[in-house]
Amino acid sequence: MHIDIITLFPDMFTEIFSQSILKRAQTKGLFTVDIHNLRDYSLNKNHNVDDYPYGGGAGMVMMIEPVDNCLAHLKAKRNYDEIIYTAPDGERLSQSVSNELALKENLCILCGHYKGVDERIREHLVTREISIGDYVLSGGELAAAVIADSVVRLLPGVLNDETSALTDSFQQDLVSPPVYTRPADYKGWKVPDVLLSGHDKMIDQWRFEQAVERTRERRPELLSDK
Ligand code: ADE
Repeated sequence: MHIDIITLFPDMFTEIFSQSILKRAQTKGLFTVDIHNLRDYSLNKNHNVDDYPYGGGAGMVMMIEPVDNCLAHLKAKRNYDEIIYTAPDGERLSQSVSNELALKENLCILCGHYKGVDERIREHLVTREISIGDYVLSGGELAAAVIADSVVRLLPGVLNDETSALTDSFQQDLVSPPVYTRPADYKGWKVPDVLLSGHDKMIDQWRFEQAVERTRERRPELLSDK
């Protein structure tokens, strides 16, 4: 999979893509990413990327021209399955959206900023709008990183144990069961006996029951949605 990210703050991505699972995915040749500075695609002499809103009002609006120039440049090299705009009023990111995106070859993510983007970008240039939750971020960069992380970890071969993404919270509309590691007894706080029993079937059964129980307690809507 390849992801192109269009942003006004390219440095925000430097660490995110050079650590942990996102780094490993690249080292293994399963994922590539390019970060594009939108300012490089502004043709005016000050490299402006934003302007005052027509009709007045507070805040600046991201201009269509640099975005269109940048996308034209990128589209000459790749066919995108989706061109995603990160926006608080977009479709809500969920595990099923991430699963769907993980099947794609090429994604482009446009990070929004300021008061928003010229509406014509949304109408004509992007194919999908995604929100990571009902709160407003200062910009779309963190949202783009969340989307990329949740998708790339699902690509076959990225996680060491192929099954571990399948047992993630939400993958079966259940949250994950609790996990423990050594020591088995810490200050009298004990690991449940079943996990030390060596009975795989009983352990699987216990984990499933815990996942259902936790989902009922913490996220009952996941069960009632069915
Ligand atoms: N940009 C600002 N807030 C956002 C959000 N919640 N999700 C996606 N992009 C955003």
